[in-house]
Amino acid sequence: MTKLAFVLGSNWLLSIAELLVYIQDRGLAGTLIDHSRHAAIIDVEQRINRDQIIDMQSALGGAYKIGKVIWEYDIDVPLKAYAAKRVASKEDLKEIRKCPWLRIVWPSAKGKKIRFGISTYPVIDGRFPIDFKRFAQGMNDQVKKLLIENGARRADYFLYNKPDRRVEKRLNIALWPKTIARNALLSPPNAEILAVFSDRKLYIARTNIVYDSMLQQYRDESRPFTSAEISTSPKICRTLLNLAGARPRDKILDPFCGTGTLLMEAALLDMKCIGVDIDGDQVQGARSNLKWLANDLGEKLDYNIIKGDSRNLSSLIKTQIDAVAFEPPLGPIYKNPPSMKEAAETIRSLTVLYREVLKEISTILRPDGRVAMTIPVINSVGGPISIEFDKLIENTGLGLYRMLSDESIKTGKNIDTRLKIRPNRELIPERKRGQIVQRAVIVLEK
Ligand SMILES: C[S@@+](CC[C@H](N)C(=O)[O-])C[C@H]1O[C@@H](n2cnc3c(N)ncnc32)[C@H](O)[C@@H]1O
Repeated sequence: MTKLAFVLGSNWLLSIAELLVYIQDRGLAGTLIDHSRHAAIIDVEQRINRDQIIDMQSALGGAYKIGKVIWEYDIDVPLKAYAAKRVASKEDLKEIRKCPWLRIVWPSAKGKKIRFGISTYPVIDGRFPIDFKRFAQGMNDQVKKLLIENGARRADYFLYNKPDRRVEKRLNIALWPKTIARNALLSPPNAEILAVFSDRKLYIARTNIVYDSMLQQYRDESRPFTSAEISTSPKICRTLLNLAGARPRDKILDPFCGTGTLLMEAALLDMKCIGVDIDGDQVQGARSNLKWLANDLGEKLDYNIIKGDSRNLSSLIKTQIDAVAFEPPLGPIYKNPPSMKEAAETIRSLTVLYREVLKEISTILRPDGRVAMTIPVINSVGGPISIEFDKLIENTGLGLYRMLSDESIKTGKNIDTRLKIRPNRELIPERKRGQIVQRAVIVLEK
């Protein structure tokens, strides 16, 4: 039995769906037992070793950090010690200050020089009666004090408490992967500790691995061909690959490959990639990206990028495909919300294109294979308009695959209704505030 803490991507629901599918596809019995908007706690029946955790981190698009849970506090303990509107007495602080988990992270601190950091993940930003900043400062000070008392030669901590770079108002008291790498916080005796709050508990986990943001940034900036207008984010590409059940050495297809972002992510995960695009410039660009990646890695990559119309896939591709993942064209880029009629017409013609391509995919997809794709949701003046599933899958030989199955979720009742997960989902929104065309993720199966 292993209890794992995952720090989630910005779309927490999609990240959880991806995690659960990934775990299930690897034959592990994993259940979501608790979560917040920032993190998920997953109980896996099997023992999970360090290498498996590293594999998970490198494959998942929606995980920033993974650690093993080493201690749990009832939420009353931090609530008493770090209440938002009350100064705690010595008695209130007694329990949390004992830190019995310290011995698990540092069985012996004697004579050591230790660098560490406690990254705190609140339930949802604000509206929770704990002063998270005071908690983070207090816990770091306390751990430092205990380590010195236990004989450490030095103990220094790193604490991030500036506003979040992405959303100023958002509280961020977690260390960035860059800080963790720069200070070697994952090499013992150094450590990063995750303090994950849910509305019931405070979980303490020791980080095993974090997302390599510097490497991703380097690849994004150095690849020869990119297009701000059409490129899909590498993280979403990974999420789509996992939802489609793609595994290393599988043959995967992106029938709308554009600049080849998804193919690059698949190649990095040791998959054999086939990409198709109707636009010759995109095909050339995607080829140059894959060639660049192979050079950069110093490895031969298995890929084939074909110029063609995916409505004729079965005449372009003669081999069986294990998994399909893609972002299709999502319609025009609107400057202002379109009328309902205009949006409905766009959705109608996109449905026809998607259905024709799905029909073709179904003929080359292996039995039980899956397709993960994004679809547009257009915020017209009269409200959101999106694809009707019956019309999309009609005569394609594919059915809807439901994400977040209810047997994989045992979180009990969340006090905050904004965290409630409705199980067995056929669609998960991938919203960006203010955009007229938003996306949703769906998965189909043969
Ligand atoms: C949203 S973009 C894909 C972006 C890609 N994931 C990336 O990261 O660059 C959609 C792509 O579908 C291609 N496309 C449109 N209709 C097509 C068709 N019928 N067959 C193949 N490709 C098509 C477009 O040329 C465009 O490159």
